[in-house]
Amino acid sequence: MKVLVINGPNLNLLGKREPGLYGHSTLEQIEARVTALGVELGLEVDFVQSNSEGTLVDAVQSAAGRAAAIVINPAAYTHTSVALRDAITAVGLPAVEVHLSNILAREEFRHTSLTAPSCRGVIAGFGAEGYLLALRAVASLLAS
Ligand code: DQA
Repeated sequence: MKVLVINGPNLNLLGKREPGLYGHSTLEQIEARVTALGVELGLEVDFVQSNSEGTLVDAVQSAAGRAAAIVINPAAYTHTSVALRDAITAVGLPAVEVHLSNILAREEFRHTSLTAPSCRGVIAGFGAEGYLLALRAVASLLAS
């Protein structure tokens, strides 16, 4: 079974971007760890990263028919994107939202996730490890 992992704006800068908040791992390193865990869990993982909202909406839509579940870090679009929320709802696949930082412990504008209500759950605050936890969550959702 295939899982699509989608990363939003500025996550291509991981490793260099505010490492105190987001850690020292690059997106490539995180993706390699997720791929390896996928092998263990019997899941094939595809990755998309974009800085553009429309491309992210297209990526969510593209999951229909080719993936069994979605892991998504919508990054800043978490707090603004009705379009992404609607896309996740529209495809109807189980989705897990992930954030490297604990968005509830940060500025107030980050406390609201427009996308989370379209997801089965949210993992936030565990750094890169959160992506692995999200993949495990997806594996458990797909097994149930
Ligand atoms: C983030 C949290 C968002 O508020 C922020 O805009 C990001 C990254 C996280 O992974 O902690 O770009 O999604």
